[in-house]
Amino acid sequence: MAYIALDKKVSDVPEDGMTLAKAGETFVLLSSVDGEIYATSRSCPHAGAALNYGFLEGSEVRCPLHGAMFDVITGDIVMGPASHGLRCFTVKIEGEDILIEEG
Ligand code: FES
Repeated sequence: MAYIALDKKVSDVPEDGMTLAKAGETFVLLSSVDGEIYATSRSCPHAGAALNYGFLEGSEVRCPLHGAMFDVITGDIVMGPASHGLRCFTVKIEGEDILIEEG
């Protein structure tokens, strides 16, 4: 499987926090949970809010607009009003570089 590099480095992701990254034209939400970096889609599936402006507690991100919650490790929805979860990307770390699986 091919991997594509993101425009953010490992040091750009705050510990236990989030940052927005891009791979080509694709926006990705990077979340740090217990020292691991996870990548998901960044738009809330409810009405498209940017989840990087939301709130991360443990592995759960809360949408800043209407409060839907998602698990950034599994992509699963934790609480509505969204009706489905986030897309997850497989992450590969190479030194300071962060890559996600293409496709
Ligand atoms: S846009 Fe995220 S819950 Fe409505």
